[in-house]
Amino acid sequence: FGAPQTVPLRRQVRLGAATHQKRLFDAAEPLYQQTFLSHFDSLTPEYEMKIAQLQPAQGQFDFTIADQIVAFAEANGKQVRGHTLIWGNSLPAWLTGRTWTREELLQVLENHIATVVGRYRGRITEWDVVNEAFLDDGTWRQNLWLTTIGPEYIARAFQAAHRADPAAKLFYNDYSIERINSKSNAIHTLATSLLAQGVPIDGIGMQAHVSPNYYPTQAQLEAVLSRLEAAGLEGQLTELDVNLTQLADTPAAEKFELQAQIYQGMVAACQARPGCTRITTWGITDKYTYLGSAGAPLLFDTQYGPKRAMEVTRRIL
Ligand code: XIL
Repeated sequence: FGAPQTVPLRRQVRLGAATHQKRLFDAAEPLYQQTFLSHFDSLTPEYEMKIAQLQPAQGQFDFTIADQIVAFAEANGKQVRGHTLIWGNSLPAWLTGRTWTREELLQVLENHIATVVGRYRGRITEWDVVNEAFLDDGTWRQNLWLTTIGPEYIARAFQAAHRADPAAKLFYNDYSIERINSKSNAIHTLATSLLAQGVPIDGIGMQAHVSPNYYPTQAQLEAVLSRLEAAGLEGQLTELDVNLTQLADTPAAEKFELQAQIYQGMVAACQARPGCTRITTWGITDKYTYLGSAGAPLLFDTQYGPKRAMEVTRRIL
């Protein structure tokens, strides 16, 4: 007999979903939790870990719901993607209702991150540290953090998160960067510059909110993932959904087949690239999506039945 054939282990790209805690814990909606537990390895709280929810008043944190979500994930062997520490949206009134000096806002930024990441040290394994800091043309988005602190807020956020949990993987997260373009180029330049300065960043989260009007082919997405790998960075699809609103008048079978083809190219690109470690869809079922019912963007239909997109995804992963 020859040497036993070693079958290369298929690299396991983890499949995650954004969850809404009201539905996750709704006894009247058991299929929501059941579908999550059966098909997904990780969850991203859709809004429950944003600044407005966790720090509703300055220095007053409310972790009640976030604790429930993390405890549920741990009890079921699921990972949690923390989303998101620093963003220009979902800001509470105490932050937006006054002016700040640069030093004051830096203290707010570092205290928020130290408190939140520190609380879940060793329990939340990945964080979207900074979300949506760029405009589509590759220039800075003028949010509160940028206008008060300057571009350095990004490096300071990553450094604060790393101090609070050195083992957590830290991501920069944004949308419309799933192809080589002005925005993904600017983000790549930022990320490689941070690494060169010794700022801890592990990867780029591509939100991947796409549609038949805008989506990357497998080759286009692989090109972005390869570029990240060459820089020592992970890539993830962090908020994947394929919005069909524009095809409202297209017969269901036809539009869901097109949707499945779009999913297929992106999932295959991630499976093909060693640096792509997780695909997270921005929700579980078309019954609940922030895009509204016409979007029908997710892997399970409004009755929690698997769609063509789920069939092709499962075949690849
Ligand atoms: C959205 C959630 O889906 C909504 O429930 C919430 O009201 C607003 O935020 N990009 C992001 C996500 O990074 O945090 C946003 O999620 C969708 C766009």
